Amino acid sequence: MDSVSVQAPATVSNVVCGFDCLGFALSEPFDEITVRKTDETGITIIHKDGYGLPTDPHRNVAGVALRAMLDALNADFGFSAEITKNIKPGSGIGSSSASSCGAVVAANRLIGDKFSKLELADFAMEGEKLASGARHADNVAPSIFGGFTLVRSIDPLDIVSIDFPPLFAAVIHPQIEIKTADARAILPKDVPLASAIKQWSNLGSLVAGLSKGEIPLIARSMEDSIVEPVRKSLIPKFDEVKAASMDAGAIGGGISGSGPSIFMLSDSMETAERVAGAMQDVFLQTDIEFNIYVSAIASDGVRIAE
Ligand code: HSE
Repeated sequence: MDSVSVQAPATVSNVVCGFDCLGFALSEPFDEITVRKTDETGITIIHKDGYGLPTDPHRNVAGVALRAMLDALNADFGFSAEITKNIKPGSGIGSSSASSCGAVVAANRLIGDKFSKLELADFAMEGEKLASGARHADNVAPSIFGGFTLVRSIDPLDIVSIDFPPLFAAVIHPQIEIKTADARAILPKDVPLASAIKQWSNLGSLVAGLSKGEIPLIARSMEDSIVEPVRKSLIPKFDEVKAASMDAGAIGGGISGSGPSIFMLSDSMETAERVAGAMQDVFLQTDIEFNIYVSAIASDGVRIAE
């Protein structure tokens, strides 16, 4: 096998009340990545898109993730990665984790699947650290494992896959860029105990609602009293989009990752499409360009192209 190509999905992290620990994988959009093993040591990054991302492997999220894998192998060979991004950087739907996860899953296949999914997520987290200044795994985990995942701990990494009922996401991506590092910098360093209690109560019941497939419990639990009130000021029309989506029948939703994308969950594709229409109507009243995605929750993570 000379090369392995993969499709690495976009992901929604935080999922309202699960800041830095909950996430899910979307079926679309996805990045396309081809990795080759090279006789020379080191890493080569080739971009096949127009985003102008760094090709220096030390400054590229896929590069640092592949470096972590090569270091773990004490390898006397290298990798080259050809990346076509369809997930715009800075979108809030896991663009950096798609690059790093896609690269390590493809590389792992080339070396005979030596590493477990958990180990791959650990390598990919190096990319998140480079992109946002913090090692967090709430995009990496669903990108590798698929479905809904909860990150119980990042050190040591402990990822729990959560059962979930059929769910569909409408995502609007206003074409403004919010850097994750900036969206993290505005968050409070301390949280009042009463807010923390509310948050972990909602997170626990959201996970229970997902596992039991209880849509009303999922709906009641999608509430965030800590992060959303601060970050929503970065996103134009956030409250209007949320209200219009709920009127159109959404179960609940909020900021996707660190924004600017906004996601809303629905219990059918038909409702998700109606919600997407409502989101679009709000943004058509502005002069901000946007993309809209309507997608089933993907039960698998990075897919190897056969
Ligand atoms: N949990 C992270 C955040 C996800 O919200 O800052 C962004 O990559």
